[in-house]
Amino acid sequence: MNFRLIAAGAAAAFALTGPVIAAEGSTGASTLRALGAHIQLHIGTAAIPSDLSDPTLSQITAEQFSVLTPGNEMKWQVVEPEQGNFNWTGADNLVNFAEANHQRVRGHTLVWHNQLPNWLTQGVANGTISNDQLRDLLHQHITTEVRRYRGRIWQWDVVNEMLADSNPSQVKPTDFWISHLGTGILADVFRWAHAADPDALLCYNDYNIAGEDGSNAKFNAALTLVKSLLSQRVPIDCVGDQGHLDLQFGFNPILMSQDLQAFANLGLKVAITEADVRTFVETTDSSQTPIVSRTDLTPNHTADPAAADWYNGMLQSCLAVKACISFTVWGFADAESWVPGTFAGEGDADIYDVNLNTKPQYTALQQTLSLATGAPKRGDHDRD
Ligand code: XIL
Repeated sequence: MNFRLIAAGAAAAFALTGPVIAAEGSTGASTLRALGAHIQLHIGTAAIPSDLSDPTLSQITAEQFSVLTPGNEMKWQVVEPEQGNFNWTGADNLVNFAEANHQRVRGHTLVWHNQLPNWLTQGVANGTISNDQLRDLLHQHITTEVRRYRGRIWQWDVVNEMLADSNPSQVKPTDFWISHLGTGILADVFRWAHAADPDALLCYNDYNIAGEDGSNAKFNAALTLVKSLLSQRVPIDCVGDQGHLDLQFGFNPILMSQDLQAFANLGLKVAITEADVRTFVETTDSSQTPIVSRTDLTPNHTADPAAADWYNGMLQSCLAVKACISFTVWGFADAESWVPGTFAGEGDADIYDVNLNTKPQYTALQQTLSLATGAPKRGDHDRD
């Protein structure tokens, strides 16, 4: 796909002299994607199958966003549930939906310790898969998946969450991949992905690597990692900061933008890849034990203004860095969020409420984008 032409078309459709003021509501020229298009910033969401099939959800997915990330459908566990037995249905659906709606795709994710197929982890654990075989399987996995969608993926999260949550931080020696294959594998996987699709932007993706850990320890480790890859002439193009924030911790948008700029100063593009801002919510489950059902939430939305401010801060951090090419939320609707199932007692993390009404979090993004439309163009975002 020629991404340059699409970007040019989108920009030409909106010849502007000043900021576009978002009209009341969230449709037409006021959608996040339309406002982002004015400044060539792609606004994205993670999408799960219901976001593409349910009539209301799919309308929002198509109207509001210009880039989609599969929430789970491209992960190894999903695409190869049994060895040699592939299931591309969800991934194909997402890529087809995106193309039908003139959206780009962020491929997610090729090398991660989570959501691996059981046959793989069990085989490694019981010794039937040796380290040499594991390396070959990873090579094959990357080649098969990246080739399948060659020319149709804008950015690939090649490596996900490889750094320790410690101060100082480093590549985790205990990570599944590192402990079996050594740190050298990180250079190899980018090379394999590049061979399979030379036009895709290849990213390192992680959380808390733009100052959200307070100490900047994880940012320092990420910077060291990408510098080392670049010095080995590894084809890495971008750094994705996930942007999963939690109101109980701190957040400094200025530090975030400085950190994003530091990655950009290495010649890399940057992106916010999984933004959401969670908080504690009341639940009908008085025990406050981990919420597994998403319908037992009774959010009172008292924290919405604070969360809106942090969403805004993340977007502003991205806008302040010319090399920031996309801003993606990790799902848009509270009813579908991964947060309640993952963080006990937390929720209310998204920009639409459980009834699919826009929240102050949405309005904050909309206003900031609207006010940024008078800013200089950000340039095209293809591989040089
Ligand atoms: C999450 C999905 O949203 C959940 O549905 C799944 O059960 C677990 O993974 N960082 C990532 C994403 O890079 O892939 C994770 O997605 C959220 C954290």
